[in-house]
Amino acid sequence: MSAVTVEGDKPLKVAVLGCGVVGSQVVRLLGEQSGDLAARVGAPVELAGVAVRRLDAPRDVEVPAGLLTTDAVGLVTRGDIDVVVEVIGGIEPARSLILAALENGASVVTANKALLAEDGPTVYEAAEKAGRDLYYEAAVAGAIPILRPLRESLAGDKVTRVLGIVNGTTNFILDKMDTQGSGFEEALEEAQALGYAEADPTADVEGFDAAAKAAILASLAFHSRVTAADVHREGISDVTSGDVRSAADMGCVVKLLAIAELASTADGSGEPGVSVRVHPAMIPRSHPLASVREAYNAVFVESEAAGQLMFYGPGAGGAPTASAVLGDLVTVARNHRQGTRGVGESAYADRAVLPMGETRTRYHVAIDVDDRAGVLAAVATAFATHGVSIQTVRQEGRGDDAQLVVVSHEATDAQLSATVTELRAMDIVREVTSVMRVEGTDE
Ligand code: HSE
Repeated sequence: MSAVTVEGDKPLKVAVLGCGVVGSQVVRLLGEQSGDLAARVGAPVELAGVAVRRLDAPRDVEVPAGLLTTDAVGLVTRGDIDVVVEVIGGIEPARSLILAALENGASVVTANKALLAEDGPTVYEAAEKAGRDLYYEAAVAGAIPILRPLRESLAGDKVTRVLGIVNGTTNFILDKMDTQGSGFEEALEEAQALGYAEADPTADVEGFDAAAKAAILASLAFHSRVTAADVHREGISDVTSGDVRSAADMGCVVKLLAIAELASTADGSGEPGVSVRVHPAMIPRSHPLASVREAYNAVFVESEAAGQLMFYGPGAGGAPTASAVLGDLVTVARNHRQGTRGVGESAYADRAVLPMGETRTRYHVAIDVDDRAGVLAAVATAFATHGVSIQTVRQEGRGDDAQLVVVSHEATDAQLSATVTELRAMDIVREVTSVMRVEGTDE
């Protein structure tokens, strides 16, 4: 690695790629906080250029004259840029620009969860080869410091589980379904009216955004390469008011969780693997994550020595995300100035990702059944046939039918889903009205 040493007060030159919701706030803060940033870095931090798609697009910040350019490649390869901040998002052209920046000796700060979750190793390896930093705190949960704690603060501990509410839009929708009794569509419309949900809400509602973040969290927590394609993903569009009421009856609330945990293989042989998944789940109202309301995010970390930790705050938005970007920028700029670099990718553990079917979890199942002799026994037999032990059963009579609510003990997801398939096929079962995993409880 060639040392880059900025002498005395020679300014560090920063290029910003993208000037949208986040980029404009990065540019604003670079200007407004230039004195403090210089003191913290040890040299002035100079905005050297801002790459945009259209020069005349309306934007929330006045970019100093002459700094706007549509030539992003020219900006990152011009030779005098010390740090590139990439806030364009998406795979291309962001990946090519980051690779070009690293090849040209710049360090990189990015907020790009999609790129890191899909093709992280390509950019991590490029940073390693170039001997430069690649920091990305803003890629997961906006302003919340969570990647640096996993990468640095907990580097001496053993993380066993990460449970995150990492998508604000879906948390807002589920919160409205819980607190106002709204249906999914009504809550989604409210989220869209308030600007949380996009006109096409698929990425949020179907869990793609959370899955990308889960992959990044799992990679850091378990020192292994996990990509978005490894993440089992279920969204919230099938969550009904009935599910939410059923959760409330059990003293629980429904949340879309990103879960990454160390998990043994079904037969318990060999090294533990990693289970990484995103799905709606019921959690007890007493769990710290249950108190995460509206569009807030939180990440709950369990580790061997530290125990339980929770990181909470705004997970999106221009200024909060820019806060995380600027935090990285100060560290990266300081390293760059001193000719050093921070922690790079750590994937030495190389843990396997377990198939969802082998993941141990618990199910809550609500079933409408005929209310007659032998029905409860038949339902219990369906669970037993698949090796699933029942923890609780609640029955409510309603004329000639009854509702049974069964909560299982832990079993593999394959055993649990086979049980539900069998229940659906039984004559005495009129309808399986709610199936949801239960998390955050002690067995
Ligand atoms: N759309 C995301 C959310 C923020 O609703 O939390 C960006 O990842």
